Amino acid sequence: MEINEIAKKLVASGKGIMAADRPSPAFNKLLEDEGIPVDAGAYRNWSELLFLAPGLSEYVSGIIMTDEQVRLTGSNGERLIEQVIERGMIPGISPFKGMVDLAGSAGETVGSGLDGLRERLAEYAAMGVGFSKWRSAFQIGPGTPSYYAIEANSYVMAQVAALSQEAGIVPIVEPEVMLLGDHSIDKCFAVTEWVLSRTFEALYVHRVDLEGTLVKASMVLSGNECPEQADVDAVAEQTVKCFRRRIPSAIPGIVFLSGGQSDYHATAHLNAMNANYELPWKLSFSYARALQRAPLQIWRNRAENVPAAQAALYHRAKMNGLASLGLWTAELEAESLAL
Ligand code: 13P
Repeated sequence: MEINEIAKKLVASGKGIMAADRPSPAFNKLLEDEGIPVDAGAYRNWSELLFLAPGLSEYVSGIIMTDEQVRLTGSNGERLIEQVIERGMIPGISPFKGMVDLAGSAGETVGSGLDGLRERLAEYAAMGVGFSKWRSAFQIGPGTPSYYAIEANSYVMAQVAALSQEAGIVPIVEPEVMLLGDHSIDKCFAVTEWVLSRTFEALYVHRVDLEGTLVKASMVLSGNECPEQADVDAVAEQTVKCFRRRIPSAIPGIVFLSGGQSDYHATAHLNAMNANYELPWKLSFSYARALQRAPLQIWRNRAENVPAAQAALYHRAKMNGLASLGLWTAELEAESLAL
């Protein structure tokens, strides 16, 4: 399939992406932090629970996986990636090998994993992977993000995007402006606008085909410790305004990260944008926490809880699928939960 076709399929009407690419050491740490027992099979069992949740493909077009996950075998002996493809979803890869400190800039980071990436992407493409995702994280604080961090990260994201397209893989470029901090929504707007503008400049320099690229963006929000929190309508208005300025309409779609927002807010904000604005791109989701928080708490690494956890995942996917069409309401949350 042409990359533009894959990109359009990933943001098909009413669908979004599930980001499941937490590496196993971080996943085991999360279980420990939540007081959930960790064992050797936990990562595989959790990945299987997520990928094979009944009905998921009604609302989820693609799943972002780790290198470990694309090689996992399910309990029926068949590779999970094959089963995802059979269910009509597109497997994606996070080829990233973690954040490293940016030399010369205390506290700022850049993603690592460029070495050998061309060969790894070719291998992933042969396995049926249709898209990649690469994240950069920008923390708003005194003097940050710096010009240097924005330039360095933009160039790395653009290199990964160019290499992905060379392999026939759609890049999802993820410049995340983090929610942490006491900054205002206006500050978040200014930083997001700056980061997006440099990201697209780098994509241009690297000859990246925008029609075959998706953006994974953070919303324009008040910092989580800001005393004055912008409401849902203000977040929708500011986010749409910022993206209209800086994201070309050639991009088929923008998929949001949840970034530490509550499940409710991640859905309500997405819905408000789609319900209230005429947009030149599809606006959908690529959530990790806002899809998986609820099922993880139900599962707690007990096999007997798998069906209920999968039902909770399906519910969140459905709510966000509706939000991607502007058709979600708070009442629908309550009704579905009562079932
Ligand atoms: P969150 O939705 O939890 O922010 O994660 C998104 C992400 O980038 C993981 O790949």
